[in-house]
Amino acid sequence: MGGVNPYLKQTANGPAQQPFRVRVAGVQQPIEVAPQDLPYGRDGLPGSLLDILLHHGVEVDHACGGVVACSTCHVYVKKGGASCRRAEEAEEDMLDTAPALTPQSRLACQCVPDGSEEIEVEIPSWNRNRIREDEF
Ligand code: FES
Repeated sequence: MGGVNPYLKQTANGPAQQPFRVRVAGVQQPIEVAPQDLPYGRDGLPGSLLDILLHHGVEVDHACGGVVACSTCHVYVKKGGASCRRAEEAEEDMLDTAPALTPQSRLACQCVPDGSEEIEVEIPSWNRNRIREDEF
């Protein structure tokens, strides 16, 4: 599963139109994002943090494939949050089910940076989706 939830109205801006950098807490090398390469994949909104992180080998759980039907992609956007698409009602409702919310909490699959600022993101070490198929 993956992509965009067809039942939700998409009012958002699209992927970034300018290059920008994403720093991940605990990862030395920043990710350089080139807008012409977006979207990378099919998980989450095009150009979302989930899309960017997965493409660059940063593991982020995303049980529903990025269609706002879980909260496993919960991340903290520590810097650059103002340059990201605003959270819509569906995202906020789903975030309410995530543990350890902060004002910087976002669903990575719905958080689309516009490229005007560097992004710093932290991925919580715990995860609601603790049981994975590959553990069986
Ligand atoms: S992956 Fe399910 S809401 Fe983001």
